Amino acid sequence: MPHGRSQQELHTFIKKLEQQTLETAEERHPIYMKAGLKNATYILDVGCGPGGVTKDIANHTNGQVFAIDDSPDMIENAKKVLQGLDVELWIGDAQQLPFKNEIFDIAMCNLVLMWASNPQQVVNEMTRVVKKGGKVVASLEPDFGGKIHWSENKKIDRIFAGKAIQKRGGDPHIGRKLRKFFVKAGLKTHVGLGNQRIWSCEEDKASYLISKKFYWSALQNSGLSTDEIKKWESEFLTSIEDNVQFDFFPQFYAIGQKKTN
Ligand SMILES: C[S@@+](CC[C@H](N)C(=O)[O-])C[C@H]1O[C@@H](n2cnc3c(N)ncnc32)[C@H](O)[C@@H]1O
Repeated sequence: MPHGRSQQELHTFIKKLEQQTLETAEERHPIYMKAGLKNATYILDVGCGPGGVTKDIANHTNGQVFAIDDSPDMIENAKKVLQGLDVELWIGDAQQLPFKNEIFDIAMCNLVLMWASNPQQVVNEMTRVVKKGGKVVASLEPDFGGKIHWSENKKIDRIFAGKAIQKRGGDPHIGRKLRKFFVKAGLKTHVGLGNQRIWSCEEDKASYLISKKFYWSALQNSGLSTDEIKKWESEFLTSIEDNVQFDFFPQFYAIGQKKTN
């Protein structure tokens, strides 16, 4: 059970990540530009997962991409997704990267720090393996506790604002902590919000229907009955139909530059 997931849960999680990769492209791409990905020579993608984001990185650079994850299942999936691309895949721990000091131009991660048991150590390791003057990038780290959602459902909002993620071992407030991790690693740090827009009702509906299984399982795991979930779902979809639904979910990014002396 990688990261506490059964094979079925892993499959659902991978589907959710594939969807997120598509939905967050317009937020990640400007960060790639800002970090100078196109002209970097050696790039490391830390916690690459099923490979969709790695593929995106490879398509945005002329350099050589390396990607690492500690889940062999994720690496197996990434192999298929990255077929035909010049990406070197590694199985290993982000908290103890199996690379020498100062060999990469950019070390990136996406949606990884929230799952790491010691996120500071991951940022320290990413800093260690980049060259002096090189970049450490967290392209998206969400802040579930910073969500604004209308119409309100106090019980269910609390689950999506942190409880469901905490149960899985994730940090629902990782976004707001990025500056602390990057500054403590000694990086010259810029932190920003990646969100380009507030989601519209139509986008929310499409996203919900694709990831419905994931939401249902999060609510079931939080102890809600089928009737309670059905009632919430019906109210949620009605608010979308009525065009009054509102959702803002902050996604933070950080770009750190390693000092040259
Ligand atoms: C939410 S997924 C994100 C995957 C990918 N970066 C993306 O955005 O689609 C988090 C990934 O980080 C990996 N991960 C978590 N902790 C790790 C660690 N200590 N070392 C290596 N990989 C880790 C997990 O196995 C998982 O594949």
